[in-house]
Amino acid sequence: MKIAVPRETTAGEARVALTPAAAGRLVAAGHQVFVEAGAGGESFPDPLYKAAKAELVRGAKATYAHAGMVLKVRKPELAEVALIPSGAALIALLQPLISPELVRALAKRKVLSFSLEAIPRITRAQSMDALSSQATVAGYKAALIAADSLGKLFPMLMTAAGTITPARVLVLGAGVAGLQAIATCRRLGGVVEAFDVRAAAKEEVKSLGAGFIELELETQEGTGGYAKEQSEDFLRRQRELLAKHAAQADVVITTALIQGRPAPILLTKEMLRGMKPGSVVVDIAAEAGGNVEGTEPGRVVVKNGVQIHGVTNPAGMVPAVSSELLSKNLTNLLALLVKDGELAPDFEDEIVKGCCITRDGEVVHEPTRKAMGEKVARGGDRAQAAPSTVEKGGAPPSS
Ligand code: NAI
Repeated sequence: MKIAVPRETTAGEARVALTPAAAGRLVAAGHQVFVEAGAGGESFPDPLYKAAKAELVRGAKATYAHAGMVLKVRKPELAEVALIPSGAALIALLQPLISPELVRALAKRKVLSFSLEAIPRITRAQSMDALSSQATVAGYKAALIAADSLGKLFPMLMTAAGTITPARVLVLGAGVAGLQAIATCRRLGGVVEAFDVRAAAKEEVKSLGAGFIELELETQEGTGGYAKEQSEDFLRRQRELLAKHAAQADVVITTALIQGRPAPILLTKEMLRGMKPGSVVVDIAAEAGGNVEGTEPGRVVVKNGVQIHGVTNPAGMVPAVSSELLSKNLTNLLALLVKDGELAPDFEDEIVKGCCITRDGEVVHEPTRKAMGEKVARGGDRAQAAPSTVEKGGAPPSS
């Protein structure tokens, strides 16, 4: 199979979908791998791909021209979709629930597309779960950003000049990223407490030696291990109950996401006003709109002496390891899609079915069709896509 790895086009995206080591393994398995020159950035320079026997190609057009299968980190821009050979396959983080235009373009181009975000969260698919692998790095980086920006140290220190009290950290959202942020802040010596709306989070938080904040709120379980979207009334009560914890914290790390929806606001301007001057907020939900009122994606703003870091691509800030993990996720999915060296997906397989977005000119992923406002049943007289509610609600920037 001919596998193409174009350079990422999103500004500041330093990750690559396939590392030289992974490219080498695919070549050894009999595939031809075409990598756009410069795709590996500073982490993986071109000579490493050459050494792995991948073919370096100049320019996106020439790279896509070779593709039977395209591997990407970010979803392609519409201009890139036009370069994908009709009938070729694509695996990337496609954000299908908030990208109706892209999904329509992929279907029109008859691209067989698979979205890493849509891989079902079942045990067999864990090695393909890019959301988890990237969230792990993101949580770690969030803790380091906080530690680096705070005018205090994290650990308690007893020195001849006096005792230094430890930094108090509040983590909101204790999923994969939040748990890694908790673990990293604990390793640095911070005193950590956390909150999540899912019941399972409590034991996970406690097992890391952090305190779990008990709020008198009903849990908000969704499907597939995710939280469901909360009502405005629930969020208001949550914010009231969390305000005093935020006021005591030196650091707040926010990671709360709801699949396909804008991130919930967990820290309001009022809560920020109650925080200590010099404290630091790291909002890694910034790309999905942010958990903090006043977050500016991609920027650091200071409000009443509180720094707010709107971190849009925390995993991308650690590109070598994020690419390595993503590359493993992608090639594990690829292995499921390929039989005897050729693309031969079993569309009845739960994983394949769960993450296939477009096939034979149709949008086949039901949640995506629903988000696009199309009738869920396949075929027949489909309603032309009405603008999705996600877009109306202020969707995350389509990056
Ligand atoms: P996510 O990235 O979608 O969300 C992050 C966290 O924010 C979640 O824990 C969510 O409950 C929380 N959240 C949402 N609204 C909130 C609010 N108002 N206040 C506080 N927290 C809020 O979720 P993530 O991290 O991708 O996964 C969540 C869980 O899914 C994991 O902790 C794990 O239990 C499960 N999972 C299962 C896998 C499997 O293969 N079985 C693989 C990966 C995750």
